[in-house]
Amino acid sequence: MTWTTLLLMLLLLLVLLFFTLTRRSRLKREPPLDKGIIPWLGHALEFGRDAAKFLTRMKLKHGNIFTVRAAGRYVTVLLDPHSYDAVLGDSECLDFTRYAQVLMDRIFNLQLPLDQPAKAKETMKRHFLGMNAAALDSIISRHLRALLKAKTPTNQKDWKEEGLFHLCYSLLFKAGYLTLFGGEQNNNGADPSSVYDEYKKFDGLLTKMARGTLRAEEKKTAHSVRKRLCELLAPAGLTEDPESSPWLHAYLQLLQEEGIDREMQKKAVLMQLWATQGNVGPAAFWLLGHLLTNPEALTAVKKEFSQISQMETTEIPFKDKPVDTPVFDSALQEALRLTAAPFITREVVQEKSLRMADGQEYLLRKGDRVCLFPFISPQMDPEVYHEPQKFKHNRFLNEDGSVKENFYKGGRRLKYYTMPWGAGTNGCVGKQFAINTIRQFVYKFLTSFDLELCDPNASVPEINASRYGFGMLQPDGDLLVRYKPKNKD
Ligand code: HEM
Repeated sequence: MTWTTLLLMLLLLLVLLFFTLTRRSRLKREPPLDKGIIPWLGHALEFGRDAAKFLTRMKLKHGNIFTVRAAGRYVTVLLDPHSYDAVLGDSECLDFTRYAQVLMDRIFNLQLPLDQPAKAKETMKRHFLGMNAAALDSIISRHLRALLKAKTPTNQKDWKEEGLFHLCYSLLFKAGYLTLFGGEQNNNGADPSSVYDEYKKFDGLLTKMARGTLRAEEKKTAHSVRKRLCELLAPAGLTEDPESSPWLHAYLQLLQEEGIDREMQKKAVLMQLWATQGNVGPAAFWLLGHLLTNPEALTAVKKEFSQISQMETTEIPFKDKPVDTPVFDSALQEALRLTAAPFITREVVQEKSLRMADGQEYLLRKGDRVCLFPFISPQMDPEVYHEPQKFKHNRFLNEDGSVKENFYKGGRRLKYYTMPWGAGTNGCVGKQFAINTIRQFVYKFLTSFDLELCDPNASVPEINASRYGFGMLQPDGDLLVRYKPKNKD
């Protein structure tokens, strides 16, 4: 026997030992287990390619709860919205922070103490809710107007053509960056266009970074783009003047007090750029895209806005006092129902008995993960929504025009009937700021510009199926539109 044969046999033995030791079978009271046929990898490829399709297939096979293997991990997926509280309400057995830390490390190469995100969230709440929210609305509105003005000179008579996704994402990103990262006030901040260009490259690799599936070349690109973004963001929040981007000022101070070094601080700021800017532009795109391809919906929203603009004397109608826009709110809610697809993931840190709404009880194993995917149910569930694939701008309105909040599944009213903002203690802190920003942007666009599809028969692009699980979905391709300032005379 040669050394090579001996070595091969040893290797084979080790592989066998590995699979024997890591073999897993379903125990009594555990959810149905589906390991897939590929050892260790399990369903990882199908999961990553199109999570909605894969999980819908698993739901048909196993029902509302099942455990799948993906890249060596076991994930229990729960798809019954009536039972979501059993997961969201238990922070003792089910931990949010550990998995968030894994993602932070993979995407931003960022390591923070376990209790840091909770403290950062408190800081953010202080700056994004209550009185401070109005100040932020007014600052972002100013930036939006300036950016739009810069895009279209007042004497512009001709149509300007652009992809709607690019238009929404770039404008809202830049306005958000200037508002929160003080790129303008401190005068030493990086120019928003450079930050946006680098950010888009980073965003394109984000899902692969999160899954740890970057190829060697992509790894290099991700590394250099991350480095460049950290450099661009380095001056943000560092002025002596706390009035300039006060939230970022407070966040950096918090990191400093925790003894986090400067390099790590820059990566943390990049993470905040992603958390605050990654979803607003895509959400505005889907809303405008659906409105432009549904003339009846567009007319309804325009009518509501024109009533507001007739009553208002100021150029920024939503700045000083809340204005009711039920039609717009319903259209936005509907666009988000169709295109917001976050995973809500928890790590099982203590064995847990999960009681479903139908009375069934299942054991969750310590070390596994639990994942809710509200996109499949309730958001796209035909039992909850009639023709769930269709955009219906008034789906969240009652006949009398009031807000509709009663949706049912299995004859019982749902507490969670759409969940674009997550839920529970880890729900989105920026929800109201995001809604106000999108409302201002769409208002400004629809009241000050003529905006239309280049091809009147175009429909909204398909969804990029590789992005399920990461907040707002993005389109595969773009929707070409043309716009010009409205003729005022
Ligand atoms: C349309 C826009 C947005 C959508 C759809 C959205 C959605 C979400 C979702 C689904 C989560 C995760 C919840 C979970 O894991 O359970 C989240 C978390 C978060 N969002 Fe948003 N978001 C948006 C805009 C914003 C904005 C504008 C800000 C801030 C200015 C923001 C700040 C945050 C923060 C800080 C968290 C983390 C909360 C935590 O650590 O527990 N988001 N968001």
